[in-house]
Amino acid sequence: MSITILGIESSCDDTSAAVIQDGYLLSNLIADQDVHRNYGGVVPELASRAHQQNIIPVVEQAIKSAGISRDEINAVAFTRGPGLLGSLLVGTSFAKGLAMSLNIPIIEVNHLQAHILAQFIRKKEKPSGIPSFPFLSLLVSGGHTQLMVVRDYLDMETIGRTIDDAAGEAFDKCGKVIGLPYPAGPEIDKLSVHGDQESFQFNKPRIKDLDFSFSGLKTSFLYFVRDKVKEDKDFVQKRKQDLCASLQKTIIDILLNKLIKATEKTGIRNIGVAGGVSANSALRNTLTNEAQKRDWDVCFPEFEFATDNAAMIAITGYFKFKKGLFSLLDIVPLARMDI
Ligand code: KG4
Ligand code: ZN
Repeated sequence: MSITILGIESSCDDTSAAVIQDGYLLSNLIADQDVHRNYGGVVPELASRAHQQNIIPVVEQAIKSAGISRDEINAVAFTRGPGLLGSLLVGTSFAKGLAMSLNIPIIEVNHLQAHILAQFIRKKEKPSGIPSFPFLSLLVSGGHTQLMVVRDYLDMETIGRTIDDAAGEAFDKCGKVIGLPYPAGPEIDKLSVHGDQESFQFNKPRIKDLDFSFSGLKTSFLYFVRDKVKEDKDFVQKRKQDLCASLQKTIIDILLNKLIKATEKTGIRNIGVAGGVSANSALRNTLTNEAQKRDWDVCFPEFEFATDNAAMIAITGYFKFKKGLFSLLDIVPLARMDI
Protein backbone atom coordinates (compact mmCIF):
# COMPACT_ATOMS: atom_id res chain seq x y z
CA MET A 1 0.00 0.00 0.00
CA SER A 2 1.21 3.52 -0.81
CA ILE A 3 1.79 6.07 1.94
CA THR A 4 0.40 9.48 0.96
CA ILE A 5 1.07 12.47 3.21
CA LEU A 6 -0.36 15.97 2.94
CA GLY A 7 2.05 18.51 4.45
CA ILE A 8 1.06 21.98 5.69
CA GLU A 9 3.55 24.75 6.50
CA SER A 10 2.53 28.09 8.02
CA SER A 11 5.28 28.99 10.51
CA CYS A 12 6.19 32.42 9.11
CA ASP A 13 5.06 34.26 5.98
CA ASP A 14 4.57 31.44 3.47
CA THR A 15 1.40 29.37 3.32
CA SER A 16 2.33 26.09 1.73
CA ALA A 17 0.80 22.67 1.11
CA ALA A 18 2.40 19.63 -0.51
CA VAL A 19 1.71 15.99 -1.22
CA ILE A 20 4.38 13.30 -0.88
CA GLN A 21 3.69 9.70 -1.88
CA ASP A 22 6.16 7.01 -0.83
CA GLY A 23 8.87 9.65 -0.47
CA TYR A 24 8.23 11.16 -3.92
CA LEU A 25 6.90 14.66 -4.43
CA LEU A 26 3.53 14.95 -6.18
CA SER A 27 2.89 18.66 -5.55
CA ASN A 28 4.24 21.63 -3.61
CA LEU A 29 2.29 24.90 -3.59
CA ILE A 30 3.54 28.08 -1.90
CA ALA A 31 1.64 31.34 -1.46
CA ASP A 32 4.00 34.03 -0.24
CA GLN A 33 2.82 37.23 1.39
CA ASP A 34 3.70 40.51 -0.26
CA VAL A 35 2.02 42.49 2.54
CA HIS A 36 5.25 42.50 4.58
CA ARG A 37 7.50 44.06 1.93
CA ASN A 38 6.77 47.64 2.92
CA TYR A 39 7.44 46.96 6.59
CA GLY A 40 11.00 45.66 6.22
CA GLY A 41 10.11 42.41 8.01
CA VAL A 42 7.25 40.04 8.79
CA VAL A 43 4.32 41.58 10.69
CA PRO A 44 2.87 38.68 12.75
CA GLU A 45 -0.74 39.92 12.75
CA LEU A 46 -0.75 40.41 8.97
CA ALA A 47 0.90 37.02 8.49
CA SER A 48 -1.78 35.07 10.36
CA ARG A 49 -4.55 36.94 8.54
CA ALA A 50 -2.97 36.11 5.16
CA HIS A 51 -2.57 32.44 6.18
CA GLN A 52 -6.30 32.32 6.93
CA GLN A 53 -7.06 33.65 3.47
CA ASN A 54 -4.59 31.38 1.68
CA ILE A 55 -4.82 28.05 3.41
CA ILE A 56 -7.97 26.60 1.82
CA PRO A 57 -7.09 27.43 -1.81
CA VAL A 58 -3.46 26.36 -1.32
CA VAL A 59 -4.39 22.97 0.16
CA GLU A 60 -7.08 22.39 -2.48
CA GLN A 61 -4.65 23.23 -5.26
CA ALA A 62 -1.93 20.98 -3.80
CA ILE A 63 -4.33 18.01 -3.72
CA LYS A 64 -5.56 18.79 -7.21
CA SER A 65 -2.14 19.14 -8.81
CA ALA A 66 -0.96 15.97 -7.06
CA GLY A 67 -3.67 14.19 -9.07
CA ILE A 68 -5.04 12.37 -6.04
CA SER A 69 -8.38 12.34 -4.30
CA ARG A 70 -8.74 13.36 -0.65
CA ASP A 71 -9.42 9.83 0.54
CA GLU A 72 -6.02 8.68 -0.71
CA ILE A 73 -4.36 10.85 1.97
CA ASN A 74 -3.15 8.70 4.89
CA ALA A 75 -2.13 11.49 7.28
CA VAL A 76 -1.84 15.27 7.57
CA ALA A 77 1.60 16.53 8.67
CA PHE A 78 1.78 20.11 9.92
CA THR A 79 4.41 22.48 11.34
CA ARG A 80 3.99 22.60 15.11
CA GLY A 81 6.86 25.07 15.62
CA PRO A 82 9.08 26.96 15.98
CA GLY A 83 7.58 30.06 14.40
CA LEU A 84 5.02 32.80 14.85
CA LEU A 85 2.28 31.54 17.14
CA GLY A 86 -0.63 33.13 15.25
CA SER A 87 0.65 31.72 11.95
CA LEU A 88 1.27 28.25 13.40
CA LEU A 89 -2.25 28.23 14.86
CA VAL A 90 -3.80 28.59 11.40
CA GLY A 91 -1.93 25.58 9.99
CA THR A 92 -2.39 23.45 13.12
CA SER A 93 -6.14 24.10 13.36
CA PHE A 94 -6.64 23.48 9.67
CA ALA A 95 -4.68 20.21 9.82
CA LYS A 96 -6.79 19.01 12.75
CA GLY A 97 -10.08 19.90 11.07
CA LEU A 98 -9.15 18.26 7.77
CA ALA A 99 -7.80 15.13 9.47
CA MET A 100 -10.95 14.80 11.57
CA SER A 101 -13.17 15.13 8.53
CA LEU A 102 -11.17 12.48 6.67
CA ASN A 103 -10.79 10.29 9.77
CA ILE A 104 -7.00 10.09 9.42
CA PRO A 105 -4.16 10.85 11.88
CA ILE A 106 -2.18 14.08 12.23
CA ILE A 107 1.60 14.26 12.57
CA GLU A 108 3.37 17.18 14.22
CA VAL A 109 6.56 18.30 12.51
CA ASN A 110 9.42 20.39 13.85
CA HIS A 111 10.18 23.04 11.21
CA LEU A 112 13.96 22.80 11.80
CA GLN A 113 14.03 19.04 11.45
CA ALA A 114 12.01 19.44 8.26
CA HIS A 115 14.58 21.86 6.77
CA ILE A 116 17.28 19.24 7.38
CA LEU A 117 15.20 16.44 5.83
CA ALA A 118 14.36 18.55 2.74
CA GLN A 119 17.31 16.84 1.07
CA PHE A 120 15.47 13.53 1.10
CA ILE A 121 12.56 14.77 -1.04
CA ARG A 122 12.60 12.77 -4.25
CA LYS A 123 11.21 13.90 -7.56
CA LYS A 124 10.24 11.39 -10.22
CA GLU A 125 12.44 12.98 -12.88
CA LYS A 126 15.58 13.57 -10.88
CA PRO A 127 16.74 12.20 -7.53
CA SER A 128 18.40 15.01 -5.56
CA GLY A 129 21.80 14.76 -3.83
CA ILE A 130 21.24 12.85 -0.62
CA PRO A 131 23.80 12.84 2.21
CA SER A 132 24.61 9.54 3.90
CA PHE A 133 24.30 9.06 7.65
CA PRO A 134 25.81 10.21 9.85
CA PHE A 135 26.15 13.72 8.46
CA LEU A 136 26.72 17.20 9.81
CA SER A 137 23.91 19.60 9.06
CA LEU A 138 24.59 23.31 8.78
CA LEU A 139 21.11 24.74 9.22
CA VAL A 140 21.05 28.38 8.17
CA SER A 141 17.71 30.15 7.98
CA GLY A 142 16.07 33.45 8.84
CA GLY A 143 15.32 32.37 12.40
CA HIS A 144 18.01 29.78 13.13
CA THR A 145 21.67 28.98 12.67
CA GLN A 146 22.69 25.59 14.04
CA LEU A 147 25.12 22.76 13.58
CA MET A 148 23.67 19.31 14.06
CA VAL A 149 24.88 15.73 13.98
CA VAL A 150 22.25 13.78 12.02
CA ARG A 151 22.48 10.04 12.75
CA ASP A 152 19.21 9.03 11.15
CA TYR A 153 16.05 10.68 9.76
CA LEU A 154 14.65 11.33 13.20
CA ASP A 155 17.82 11.15 15.29
CA MET A 156 19.53 14.57 15.42
CA GLU A 157 21.66 16.35 18.02
CA THR A 158 22.47 20.07 18.16
CA ILE A 159 26.21 20.68 18.66
CA GLY A 160 26.29 24.44 18.03
CA ARG A 161 23.82 27.29 17.72
CA THR A 162 23.66 31.05 17.43
CA ILE A 163 23.68 32.94 20.70
CA ASP A 164 21.87 35.92 19.12
CA ASP A 165 20.86 36.58 15.49
CA ALA A 166 20.62 33.97 12.73
CA ALA A 167 22.66 34.12 9.50
CA GLY A 168 19.54 34.95 7.47
CA GLU A 169 18.74 37.75 9.90
CA ALA A 170 22.23 39.19 9.34
CA PHE A 171 21.53 39.26 5.59
CA ASP A 172 18.07 40.78 6.11
CA LYS A 173 18.97 43.39 8.74
CA CYS A 174 22.13 44.58 6.99
CA GLY A 175 20.20 44.69 3.72
CA LYS A 176 17.65 46.94 5.38
CA VAL A 177 20.47 49.32 6.40
CA ILE A 178 21.31 49.83 2.72
CA GLY A 179 17.67 50.10 1.66
CA LEU A 180 17.05 46.60 0.28
CA PRO A 181 13.53 45.16 0.58
CA TYR A 182 12.74 42.23 2.91
CA PRO A 183 13.98 39.51 2.65
CA ALA A 184 17.32 40.97 1.58
CA GLY A 185 19.24 37.67 1.36
CA PRO A 186 18.37 36.82 -2.27
CA GLU A 187 18.99 40.44 -3.36
CA ILE A 188 22.42 40.55 -1.65
CA ASP A 189 23.25 37.27 -3.38
CA LYS A 190 22.49 38.83 -6.80
CA LEU A 191 24.19 42.19 -6.15
CA SER A 192 27.32 40.49 -4.80
CA VAL A 193 28.02 38.83 -8.13
CA HIS A 194 29.17 42.23 -9.47
CA GLY A 195 30.92 43.36 -6.29
CA ASP A 196 34.45 42.99 -4.88
CA GLN A 197 34.27 40.90 -1.72
CA GLU A 198 37.60 42.22 -0.44
CA SER A 199 36.47 45.89 -0.49
CA PHE A 200 35.48 46.20 3.16
CA GLN A 201 36.18 44.36 6.41
CA PHE A 202 33.55 43.83 9.09
CA ASN A 203 33.81 42.45 12.61
CA LYS A 204 33.90 38.69 12.98
CA PRO A 205 32.78 37.25 16.32
CA ARG A 206 35.02 35.37 18.71
CA ILE A 207 32.60 32.83 20.12
CA LYS A 208 33.80 29.64 21.74
CA ASP A 209 33.17 26.08 20.59
CA LEU A 210 30.67 25.59 17.79
CA ASP A 211 28.32 28.46 18.63
CA PHE A 212 27.67 31.40 16.31
CA SER A 213 26.98 35.10 16.76
CA PHE A 214 25.85 37.61 14.14
CA SER A 215 24.67 40.62 16.11
CA GLY A 216 28.18 42.18 16.29
CA LEU A 217 28.50 41.96 12.52
CA LYS A 218 25.15 43.70 12.10
CA THR A 219 26.25 46.55 14.39
CA SER A 220 29.65 46.84 12.74
CA PHE A 221 27.97 47.02 9.31
CA LEU A 222 25.46 49.62 10.51
CA TYR A 223 28.14 51.94 12.02
CA PHE A 224 30.42 51.52 9.03
CA VAL A 225 27.69 52.53 6.57
CA ARG A 226 26.51 55.38 8.82
CA ASP A 227 30.05 56.85 9.01
CA LYS A 228 30.64 56.52 5.29
CA VAL A 229 27.31 58.16 4.47
CA LYS A 230 28.34 61.13 6.67
CA GLU A 231 31.36 61.62 4.37
CA ASP A 232 29.47 60.99 1.13
CA LYS A 233 25.69 60.82 1.01
CA ASP A 234 25.81 58.73 -2.17
CA PHE A 235 28.17 56.15 -0.68
CA VAL A 236 25.61 53.32 -0.55
CA GLN A 237 24.45 53.94 -4.08
CA LYS A 238 28.03 54.02 -5.38
CA ARG A 239 29.30 50.98 -3.49
CA LYS A 240 26.20 48.81 -3.00
CA GLN A 241 27.60 45.80 -4.84
CA ASP A 242 30.93 45.93 -2.97
CA LEU A 243 29.11 46.31 0.35
CA CYS A 244 26.95 43.28 -0.42
CA ALA A 245 29.86 41.13 -1.59
CA SER A 246 31.99 42.02 1.48
CA LEU A 247 29.11 41.37 3.87
CA GLN A 248 28.26 38.07 2.20
CA LYS A 249 31.92 36.98 2.34
CA THR A 250 32.05 37.76 6.08
CA ILE A 251 28.90 35.72 6.79
CA ILE A 252 30.21 32.80 4.73
CA ASP A 253 33.63 32.95 6.50
CA ILE A 254 31.90 32.77 9.89
CA LEU A 255 29.84 29.75 8.81
CA LEU A 256 32.77 27.98 7.14
CA ASN A 257 35.03 28.48 10.13
CA LYS A 258 32.58 26.71 12.46
CA LEU A 259 31.86 23.99 9.93
CA ILE A 260 35.58 23.20 9.71
CA LYS A 261 35.72 23.02 13.52
CA ALA A 262 32.68 20.74 13.58
CA THR A 263 34.22 18.31 11.07
CA GLU A 264 37.43 18.23 13.13
CA LYS A 265 35.59 17.71 16.39
CA THR A 266 33.22 14.97 15.18
CA GLY A 267 35.33 13.38 12.44
CA ILE A 268 32.24 13.50 10.19
CA ARG A 269 32.94 14.53 6.59
CA ASN A 270 29.44 14.22 5.12
CA ILE A 271 27.71 17.57 5.18
CA GLY A 272 24.15 18.63 4.43
CA VAL A 273 23.38 22.33 4.22
CA ALA A 274 19.79 23.37 4.99
CA GLY A 275 17.52 26.40 5.41
CA GLY A 276 16.84 29.52 3.35
CA VAL A 277 20.46 30.74 3.34
CA SER A 278 21.51 27.45 1.72
CA ALA A 279 20.10 28.97 -1.48
CA ASN A 280 22.98 31.47 -1.46
CA SER A 281 25.12 30.93 -4.55
CA ALA A 282 28.42 32.09 -2.99
CA LEU A 283 27.87 29.80 0.02
CA ARG A 284 27.25 26.92 -2.36
CA ASN A 285 30.39 27.71 -4.38
CA THR A 286 32.57 28.19 -1.32
CA LEU A 287 31.45 24.95 0.33
CA THR A 288 31.75 23.00 -2.91
CA ASN A 289 35.36 24.22 -3.32
CA GLU A 290 36.19 23.52 0.32
CA ALA A 291 34.72 20.04 -0.06
CA GLN A 292 37.14 19.29 -2.87
CA LYS A 293 40.09 20.59 -0.86
CA ARG A 294 39.13 18.86 2.37
CA ASP A 295 37.65 15.65 1.01
CA TRP A 296 34.15 16.41 2.28
CA ASP A 297 30.93 15.26 0.70
CA VAL A 298 28.61 18.29 0.62
CA CYS A 299 24.92 18.21 -0.37
CA PHE A 300 22.47 21.09 -0.79
CA PRO A 301 18.70 20.92 -1.09
CA GLU A 302 17.22 21.81 -4.45
CA PHE A 303 16.54 25.57 -4.56
CA GLU A 304 12.78 25.17 -4.28
CA PHE A 305 13.21 23.20 -1.02
CA ALA A 306 15.83 25.50 0.57
CA THR A 307 13.41 28.20 1.74
CA ASP A 308 10.16 27.47 3.59
CA ASN A 309 7.92 24.92 1.87
CA ALA A 310 5.45 22.19 2.78
CA ALA A 311 7.24 19.44 0.85
CA MET A 312 9.82 19.30 3.67
CA ILE A 313 6.97 19.01 6.19
CA ALA A 314 5.37 16.21 4.19
CA ILE A 315 8.64 14.24 3.83
CA THR A 316 9.26 14.50 7.59
CA GLY A 317 5.66 13.39 8.14
CA TYR A 318 6.34 10.45 5.83
CA PHE A 319 9.33 9.29 7.93
CA LYS A 320 7.29 9.71 11.13
CA PHE A 321 4.31 7.85 9.62
CA LYS A 322 6.55 4.86 8.91
CA LYS A 323 7.46 4.79 12.59
CA GLY A 324 3.87 5.26 13.75
CA LEU A 325 4.65 8.63 15.33
CA PHE A 326 1.22 10.28 15.31
CA SER A 327 -0.06 13.21 17.38
CA LEU A 328 -3.16 13.63 19.48
CA LEU A 329 -5.88 16.08 18.46
CA ASP A 330 -5.37 18.24 21.56
CA ILE A 331 -1.84 19.18 20.43
CA VAL A 332 -1.00 22.91 20.46
CA PRO A 333 1.56 24.83 18.37
CA LEU A 334 4.77 26.06 20.00
CA ALA A 335 6.53 29.32 19.10
CA ARG A 336 9.80 27.96 20.50
CA MET A 337 10.86 24.41 19.92
CA ASP A 338 14.19 22.61 19.90
CA ILE A 339 14.99 19.58 17.80
O1 KG4 B 1 14.34 28.92 5.84
P1 KG4 B 1 13.69 30.21 5.52
O2 KG4 B 1 12.85 30.29 4.26
O3 KG4 B 1 12.78 30.71 6.67
C1 KG4 B 1 13.06 30.50 8.02
O4 KG4 B 1 12.76 29.39 8.51
O5 KG4 B 1 13.65 31.42 8.61
O6 KG4 B 1 14.86 31.28 5.44
C2 KG4 B 1 14.62 32.60 5.11
C3 KG4 B 1 15.96 33.31 5.11
C4 KG4 B 1 15.82 34.83 4.97
O7 KG4 B 1 16.61 35.43 5.97
C5 KG4 B 1 16.38 35.10 3.58
O8 KG4 B 1 16.99 36.36 3.46
C6 KG4 B 1 17.40 33.99 3.44
O9 KG4 B 1 16.78 32.86 4.03
N1 KG4 B 1 17.73 33.70 2.05
C7 KG4 B 1 18.95 33.93 1.50
C8 KG4 B 1 18.86 33.58 0.13
N2 KG4 B 1 17.60 33.10 -0.10
C9 KG4 B 1 16.93 33.18 1.08
N3 KG4 B 1 20.06 34.45 2.05
C10 KG4 B 1 21.13 34.60 1.24
N4 KG4 B 1 21.12 34.28 -0.07
C11 KG4 B 1 20.03 33.77 -0.67
N5 KG4 B 1 20.05 33.44 -1.97
ZN1 ZN C 1 12.33 27.88 7.63
